[in-house]
Amino acid sequence: MRRKLVVANWKMHGSRSRNRQLLDAIKPALQSFDDRVDIAVCPAHLHLSEVISELAGSNIRPGAQNLFGLAEGAMTGEISASMLMDCGAEFVIVGHSERRGKLGEADVQVAEKFAAASESGLTPILCVGETGEERDAGKTEAVVSRQLDAVTNRVGINPMRGAVIAYEPVWAIGSGTPATPAQAQAMHAMLRGRLARRDGEIADAVRILYGGSMNAANAAELFAQPDIDGGLVGGASLKAEEFITICAIASS
Ligand code: PGA
Repeated sequence: MRRKLVVANWKMHGSRSRNRQLLDAIKPALQSFDDRVDIAVCPAHLHLSEVISELAGSNIRPGAQNLFGLAEGAMTGEISASMLMDCGAEFVIVGHSERRGKLGEADVQVAEKFAAASESGLTPILCVGETGEERDAGKTEAVVSRQLDAVTNRVGINPMRGAVIAYEPVWAIGSGTPATPAQAQAMHAMLRGRLARRDGEIADAVRILYGGSMNAANAAELFAQPDIDGGLVGGASLKAEEFITICAIASS
């Protein structure tokens, strides 16, 4: 039985005081779900150290939203896996569609980032997902498979042990319209099946999150699907009550 994981992706939102307010609101409520669900928050890099201090003693684990795929070097403005580890991060989102689509991140870079994260001991959260156009053209499975294979071809199957995958259809992100539970389940099962061709045990253990307009009203039917192991939550994670409710559903 895979334990559910709910990850807040704060994206480019927040300030030191707003982060504190949000954490003060969610920390006590989430404490009671401690042994039934894993919870993480991913603030902006700039806020990570302070958020990590504020998370001390809570059951919320810290994550980052991005990293660079090299250990160190002349890369102005970038942040490495070891820097994230050093400051106390445990998770890192890799290959979010906003970075693939708006910042031109290619599969090969995503694979380098995944490799750097898992080699350093961070838990990568690998995002995959098709655009609306790709879905309409019947390319969903091909696109998502290509995104997954780019990583497994680079790192092999073993680093997928303990890693997290997030299926996030691009058309569902921030749109208010999530994938239907059946659409999401079909893709989650496809991803797990693809991993199972290489290693059944790893495929069975890997947690596959759904992301894209998840909120307190739709989380239950998504979490009820057999291959949906939690959520990567954007907009709804910025509202304390919404996020607490999503975590409560995941823990039940
Ligand atoms: P959303 O974002 O929940 O606001 O749709 C999810 C994500 O992009 O990770």
